[in-house]
Amino acid sequence: MCPPEHFTVEYVINPWMDTSTPVDVELALKQWERLRETLVDLGHTVHVLPPRAGLPDMVFAANGGFVVDGTVYGARFKYPQRAAEAAAHREFYEAQGWTYVAPSEVNEGEGDFAYLPDAYGGTILAGYGFRTEPAAHAQAQDVLGRPAVSLRLVDPRFYHLDTALAALDDRTVTYFPGAFSPASQRVLRQLFPDAVLADEADALAFGLNLVGDGRHVVLNDEASGMAARVAAAGYVPVPVELSELKKGGGSVKCCVAELRH
Ligand code: ARG
Repeated sequence: MCPPEHFTVEYVINPWMDTSTPVDVELALKQWERLRETLVDLGHTVHVLPPRAGLPDMVFAANGGFVVDGTVYGARFKYPQRAAEAAAHREFYEAQGWTYVAPSEVNEGEGDFAYLPDAYGGTILAGYGFRTEPAAHAQAQDVLGRPAVSLRLVDPRFYHLDTALAALDDRTVTYFPGAFSPASQRVLRQLFPDAVLADEADALAFGLNLVGDGRHVVLNDEASGMAARVAAAGYVPVPVELSELKKGGGSVKCCVAELRH
């Protein structure tokens, strides 16, 4: 995770961002700290990446890479405003001893990649349409040695895979079908007949932008419908307030890059 010390909305690269909306950095930091404490209280280890001035979206740490079995497939950002974040993540991973593979294809890390270790022996789900290039899906598969299933995103409000789909545990996904092309919806139905389906209201409340650890589901507190759905599916919803970061077009999952040994 990376604290939102330099968080602002000074450019527009997704439909949620509006440069005329003021951002309360103090509140953003407070909310971010509560999220960090929540994950620690649930028993997780959180490493903190030092924020850099001039990179207002660095708080969205999920976009800095994609880690499977100790190997990091690095990020290469679509927009120049975020390009320099990739090197900061690379330094972190290399300093911590992870195997880092630099990408040649545009991809925004866990923003567009999800991993399900127990689905079909280990499956990568990969989004495209707005940010990550399909060529990066093939590259992730080559680097990580797991099948990558490409899913086409069609709604600009849900521009990253992690705004429309999440892993609840090692084999179960939840997603909003309307964010995907008809063919990708069919692929998802075929692979995950037992998925927890969400609706547009859940997705608009950033309810899919969640972090699940197999038991707990940490999610935006505005997503009360989604909290009810995951509770009905047997998980424990843990709501957190992240109203400030929503102004950048992100929520819980965007703030968390998961480290998989
Ligand atoms: N403003 C950032 C962007 O548009 C938000 C990124 C949100 N992160 C995510 N994993 N969905 O790139």
